[in-house]
Amino acid sequence: MNSQQQGVENVKRYTITTALPYANGPVHIGHLAGVYVPADIYARYLRLCGKDVVLIGGSDEHGVPITLQAKAKHMTPQQVVDHYHAIIKKSFEELGISFDIYSRTSTPLHAKTASDFFKTLYDKGCFEEKTSLQYYDEENRQFLADRYITGTCPHCGNEKAYGDQCEKCGSTLSPDELIDPKSAISGNKPVKKETKHWYLPLGQYENFLREWILKGHKDDWKTNVYGQCKSWIDQGLLPRAVTRDLDWGVKLPLPDTDGKVLYVWFDAPIGYISATKELLPDTWEKYWKDPDTKLVHFIGKDNIVFHCIIFPVMLKAEGSYILPENVPANEFLNLEGDKISTSRNWAVWLHEYLEELPGKQDVLRYVLTANAPETKDNDFTWKDYQARNNNELLAVFGNLVNRTLVLIQKYFDGKTPTPAALTEADRATLDEMRGYGQRIGASIEAYRFREALNEMMNLARLGNKYLTETEPWKIWKTDPQRVATVLHVSLQIVAHLAIVCEPFLPFTAAKLRRMLDMPAMGWKEAEKEVLVPAGHPLGEVELLFEKIEDSVIEAQMQKLADAKAKNLAAQAAAAPVKESKPLVSFDDFARMDLRVGVIKTAEKVAKTKKLLKLTVDTGIDTRTIVSGIAEYYQPEELPGRKVCVLVNLAPKDLKGIPSQGMLLLSENPDGRLLFVEPGADAVPGAEIR
Ligand code: 2FM
Ligand code: ZN
Repeated sequence: MNSQQQGVENVKRYTITTALPYANGPVHIGHLAGVYVPADIYARYLRLCGKDVVLIGGSDEHGVPITLQAKAKHMTPQQVVDHYHAIIKKSFEELGISFDIYSRTSTPLHAKTASDFFKTLYDKGCFEEKTSLQYYDEENRQFLADRYITGTCPHCGNEKAYGDQCEKCGSTLSPDELIDPKSAISGNKPVKKETKHWYLPLGQYENFLREWILKGHKDDWKTNVYGQCKSWIDQGLLPRAVTRDLDWGVKLPLPDTDGKVLYVWFDAPIGYISATKELLPDTWEKYWKDPDTKLVHFIGKDNIVFHCIIFPVMLKAEGSYILPENVPANEFLNLEGDKISTSRNWAVWLHEYLEELPGKQDVLRYVLTANAPETKDNDFTWKDYQARNNNELLAVFGNLVNRTLVLIQKYFDGKTPTPAALTEADRATLDEMRGYGQRIGASIEAYRFREALNEMMNLARLGNKYLTETEPWKIWKTDPQRVATVLHVSLQIVAHLAIVCEPFLPFTAAKLRRMLDMPAMGWKEAEKEVLVPAGHPLGEVELLFEKIEDSVIEAQMQKLADAKAKNLAAQAAAAPVKESKPLVSFDDFARMDLRVGVIKTAEKVAKTKKLLKLTVDTGIDTRTIVSGIAEYYQPEELPGRKVCVLVNLAPKDLKGIPSQGMLLLSENPDGRLLFVEPGADAVPGAEIR
C-alpha cells in the first residue's frame, strides 16, 4: 500500500530519518531548509496527532573528507568529528529540531550494527568479491579512494574533480574516469596496484526496484525523486563497491582484511538503525521491521540514489527490514543568488545565526519553510527574511494575537469574555476556523510544507479580517456585550493558532500557550470550536515577534560581502598567472589609441545572454560599442560610468550591430569581467598611455 492510500489514521508508528550531516563542518541554512526543518514539522505534526514517532538524526563521522581535514589540521579524525558533532548537536537543539535521538557513527554500537549487517549479507552470499587495479600513492603507501584522488572531470573539464564526484557539473565519477589523476595527499601521480573489494551487485535487484519504485511509487513519490530513480534504473545498475582501503571507518568483520573498512555510504544509513537501537534498546525492531511502521527518509537531492536505490537494496538483501514509504527529497537552497558553498564560506551557518540573532529561531524556521526548495532550487535573501518577519509574522500573526489579548486585558481584566448571541458572520468565521487543522494536516501529510505554512497564516489572516470588520475598539462604550462576543471569537482563533502553528513555530506555540494559560493540546482539538472557555484567566501578554531593523540585515549582508571579498583574494592568490605574450615594440603599442570615455546609454542586445549595446562619449565622438558584460552589469547602472576605450579598433558587426571600439576589462578570479576604471577626475577624450 502506498502512503497516499495509507492515511495517517491507519499508520501505527513512524520512523522518520534525517540525512546524517558529515561532521567536518557546521550545518547551514541549506541543510535546514532541505532536510531538518521539514522533517521536524512532519514529526511534530504526527506527534500532535497522537502517533508513535521516532525522529532520528546523527552525525556522519566517516569518509575521506574527514580524514583529509584531520591531516590538514594535524588532528586525528576523531578530534575533528568530536569538535563538529558537538557544534551541530547543540545548534539543532537550539533551533528546536525535536530529535528523539541525535547520535553519531563513531560509536561502538554503530560499528557493531554496521559490521553485523555487512556480515549477514556476506554470509548470505550477497556480495561479489573482486580484485582490481586501483590508484595508489606510493609515497604515503595508501590506496586513493573517493576524495583521496583528484583530477580533471571528463564531462566538464573541471580540474578539481574528485574520484567520486565532480562538484562543478554534479556527475558521479569513478577514479578511473579522471583525466590526469593526482593524489590529494601528496599531489603525486599515482600508480595502480591490486586490491580486493566487496561489491553489491545492484543489477540483480533491477526487477525488485522496477516493481517497488517505478510501479509502486509512481504516484506518491515526488517527481524529482521518481525521475532520478527511473534514470538510474534505466541506465543499468552496476555493482557498487561497499568496502574501501582506509584506516578510518568501520573495520571489515572478515579475516585478513586489515586496512579495509566499510564504504561510508554503506555504514552511514545503517546509522539510522544504530541510533534507533541506542534510543530503544528493547523495542527498536518494531521501528524497522514491523510492516505497520511507516519509514520516511528526509534528504537533499544529492542523496537520492543512496536512499532510494542502494540502502533499500541493502535492506531487501538482509531480508528482515521494511522499506521506505517515501523519500521526500528537496532541491537546493541558494543564498543571495549564489550556490551555498562551504569552501567559499558562502553560507549562513546555524550556530552563528543563533548567536547573532538570539531568540529568532522561529523566524528562521518560518522563512526557510516559506521559501523551501520543494520543487525547484530556491533563494534565501536577507531582505526577504526581513520582509517575511516584518510583514508576515509581525504584521499578520503577531498583530492578531496582540490586538486580541491587549483588548481582553483592557476591557475584561485579562479574563476570557462570555459571548452573547453569535451573528451569522461570527458563525461563519468559527466554522471556517475549524477547517484549518484538517487542511494544514493534509498538506503536511503530502509533504507540502510551504502550502501548509501558508494555510496556517491564512488562519491568522482570517482573525485579522474578522477584527478589522467588527472593530470592537469602536463599540466598547455603546455595545460592550458585542465586544465580549467578538473578542471571545478572536481569542478562539488565537488558541487554534497555538495548536496549528506548533509544527512550524514551536517557540511561538509555547509562548502562546503561556499567554493563554492553555495546556498543550492535540491536533484533533483544533476541530473544536471553543478551546479557551469563558471566564478563563489568561496569562501575561508577551512579545511574539519584534520588528527587524535595516541595520540588522545590513550587518548580515556585510558579513557575506566580507566573505566574498576574502574568498576572491584567496582565489587570486591561488590562481595560476598566464605566461607573458611575446614582446611588442613601443611603436606597436603607440599605434593603439586608448581614451577615457563615459557611457551614455546601455541596453541588452536581444536574444543574447552576454552582450550589451552601449553608446559611449569618447571625447572625439559619441559611438556605439557592443561589449560582452551583460552577465556582470545591469544596463541601468551604467550611464555615467567612466571607462577605458580602444578607439581605433577596426569596426566589427556583433549580432548585426556595428561596434566601433572596445572597452578595457579585467578578469576577476571568479571569471567576472569588470571595467578597468580611469581616475575619478579623468575627462572624456583624455589619452591613456
Ligand atoms: O551528504 C551527506 O551529507 C551525507 N553525510 C548524508 C548521509 S545520509 C545517511 F545515509 F546517513
Ligand atoms: Zn564535471
